[in-house]
Amino acid sequence: MASASTVKKGQKVGQKMGQKMDQATHSNHGSNHGNHNDRAEQSLTVTRLLTRKHALNESQLEARRERTDAAPGEVLLKIDRFALTTNNITYAAFGDAMNYWQFFPTGQQEWGHMPVWGFADVVDSKVPGVAAGERFYGYFPIASHIRMQPERVTERGFYDALEHRRPLTSAYNQYTRVTHDAAYAPELENYQMLYRPLFITSFMLADFLEDNRFFGATRLVVSSASSKTAYGTAFCLRDLPGISLAAITSARNRPFVEGLGCYAEVVGYDDLETLPTDAPTLYVDFSGDEALRARVHHHFGGALVYDCFAGSAQNTGFLRDTGLPGPKPEFYFAPVQIRKRNADWGPEGVNRRFNAAQRAFIDYVKTPANGWLTLIEAQGFGAAQDRIASLVAGGSEPKAGYVVRLDGSERSNDRARMTEE
Ligand SMILES: NC(=O)c1ccc[n+]([C@@H]2O[C@H](COP(=O)([O-])OP(=O)(O)OC[C@H]3O[C@@H](n4cnc5c(N)ncnc54)[C@H](OP(=O)(O)O)[C@@H]3O)[C@@H](O)[C@H]2O)c1
Repeated sequence: MASASTVKKGQKVGQKMGQKMDQATHSNHGSNHGNHNDRAEQSLTVTRLLTRKHALNESQLEARRERTDAAPGEVLLKIDRFALTTNNITYAAFGDAMNYWQFFPTGQQEWGHMPVWGFADVVDSKVPGVAAGERFYGYFPIASHIRMQPERVTERGFYDALEHRRPLTSAYNQYTRVTHDAAYAPELENYQMLYRPLFITSFMLADFLEDNRFFGATRLVVSSASSKTAYGTAFCLRDLPGISLAAITSARNRPFVEGLGCYAEVVGYDDLETLPTDAPTLYVDFSGDEALRARVHHHFGGALVYDCFAGSAQNTGFLRDTGLPGPKPEFYFAPVQIRKRNADWGPEGVNRRFNAAQRAFIDYVKTPANGWLTLIEAQGFGAAQDRIASLVAGGSEPKAGYVVRLDGSERSNDRARMTEE
């Protein structure tokens, strides 16, 4: 990382950095580029936002020089925009436990690359079937650019087959070509990257619970009910006969959750014990709060039929056995149910159902009169740093949907700006 330069949150990337090519990057490609053309000899500034693995509110920007072209078998993408929600913080919090740090290695033990969902454009490609100028949706690091090695290239997109990604969950290695995505609409990009990664969980979680006849429950109790993944699940279960939903949330977010209108009951965390215990109950936990889980188990006692650990909005620790009475908390991971439904319905059937549900959901949330969402579009790495710190601190407004644009960041006056002598 000899030529990489870094700047901590709040500082500008300094001058003089990146005057040399990054040695590691250069030598990786050097043997493939005996005939340097003019374009290859120019250099590209690649900016990356790194997160301190054990203090997720701390980030730093790093800039370095790389080649402007792709090596054989490689594509170079410029990341254009992405969304930030608590889910991204959870990726980082579970970076070790769930291998999320391994998707985009930084080469630095202390610093990781927080994954986000967004759109990127191909700058250069040496891969048949992927052309410069094409746009893809998928899982990216917070960075200006990324190099990938596409395989299984089809009209729908490709999988990144870089060696370190091969053992990782394949759903995250898949990149969708926007021109062949039935659910894509240019004017909905912000909604897609904000909700799609969450709504796939909402949709599949609702399906998983229904598929299992709610484990005998007639009441669902949902924690961190103000989160987008939680209310997406509630949206999917609306109008389902025989099931009622109770929301538990923080006092400050209670008015927002009541306003959603998708939960039959809404209580603050302090009032959990006021919820009735007269019906078989299923706990859907998006908070990950251990003390809350203990209270749920003790309050509902024999009425608690299933404990579904679906999120960890309030806790950076992974699920652990604390010897509670009642059903053992079961970790819910969307890709598992996706695999099951791919086998049951076929991938086309899964896509068709998911796309229809997602479109109905997005149409609903984007309608201002419904009051579910205020979309906030910010620009640049500095805005991303601020938002991450605010999400880690729990200071986010549940109605806000936050997306970051990187286009033009290098020219903008934000703190990721890099100047040269
Ligand atoms: N299992 C899966 O496959 C899967 C997939 C997607 C998402 N998820 C999980 O679902 C959870 C929600 O993610 P999201 O992106 O939908 O969240 P979001 O919309 O950003 O939700 C924010 C809400 O989470 C709670 N919260 C967030 N940070 C907090 C903090 N530091 N302290 C206290 N409360 C905090 C608050 O809810 P309250 O005030 O209501 O508590 C807040 O309104 C995450 O843990 C995410 O990882 C799981």
